[in-house]
Amino acid sequence: MILIDGKKEAEELRKKLKDEVSALKLKYKKVPGLTVILIGEMTPSQIYVRNKEKSANEIGLKSEVIKYPESVEEKIVLDKIKELNNDDTVSGILVQLPLPKHIDKQKVIETISPNKDVDGLHPINVGNLSSGYQGSIPCTPLGCYLLIKKIESNLTGKKAVMIGRSNLNGKAMAQLLLQEDCTVTITHSKTKNLKEECLVADIIVAAVGIKELVRGDWVKKDAIVIDVGINKTEKGIVGDVAFNEVSKVAKALTPVPGGVGPMTIACLLKNTIECFKRFQN
Ligand code: GUN
Repeated sequence: MILIDGKKEAEELRKKLKDEVSALKLKYKKVPGLTVILIGEMTPSQIYVRNKEKSANEIGLKSEVIKYPESVEEKIVLDKIKELNNDDTVSGILVQLPLPKHIDKQKVIETISPNKDVDGLHPINVGNLSSGYQGSIPCTPLGCYLLIKKIESNLTGKKAVMIGRSNLNGKAMAQLLLQEDCTVTITHSKTKNLKEECLVADIIVAAVGIKELVRGDWVKKDAIVIDVGINKTEKGIVGDVAFNEVSKVAKALTPVPGGVGPMTIACLLKNTIECFKRFQN
């Protein structure tokens, strides 16, 4: 079994991106900038945002975090996004999710300029991805995609099963694998016979947030299994895949932690650089 080392892959990607930032700095006399907006005190979000800021700084990006209290008015956030849309030193804008209930997530996402939408969540970017046009691709699916391609460069005709249909993960992942000529099935909480769907899959991407849902007897021998889950338990963080069972049958599997997570952040940096380059052109 190949244990997919997301930490190592992310490190290699960050190194390449660091070199690219240095080259861009020489060429344009400025560096790409990433601004993250964090609303409220949600601890996991605070940790994610701190990691994003640290990684951005390490590769030489200009990085800024704007923090608001939980009670901030929606208009203040929307006005700040509009200001950042017009700021040439800002290449990418990310508003950390989830948001407090009184703030309309869709309004926030649609206020971010599609050209600075490093999450790939703006409807324009969602449309670009599904049409196969250029645009930002959500960071987690992009990270999963790069890990899968590292294991298997030709995915033509492979059966790929997504577990979960979120905009951030399942739907975007399906589009990426469709572009690689996979036959894609998107499953969700109302899917009947999920185990049978998984048993025919050459590739499984689990992103539902149900701890250890995917069992050893759900997985075909030699399948590639990507675990996007982050579930808190008394034992610590576990994924959506029962690691010990699935590692006995799969061809390749990502661990949690140390699989998809580090790639998500590296891909955010990649998206920020791509936005910068598209702006310069
Ligand atoms: N919260 C958890 N994951 C993400 C992500 O990829 N983007 C944003 N904006 N918020 C998140």
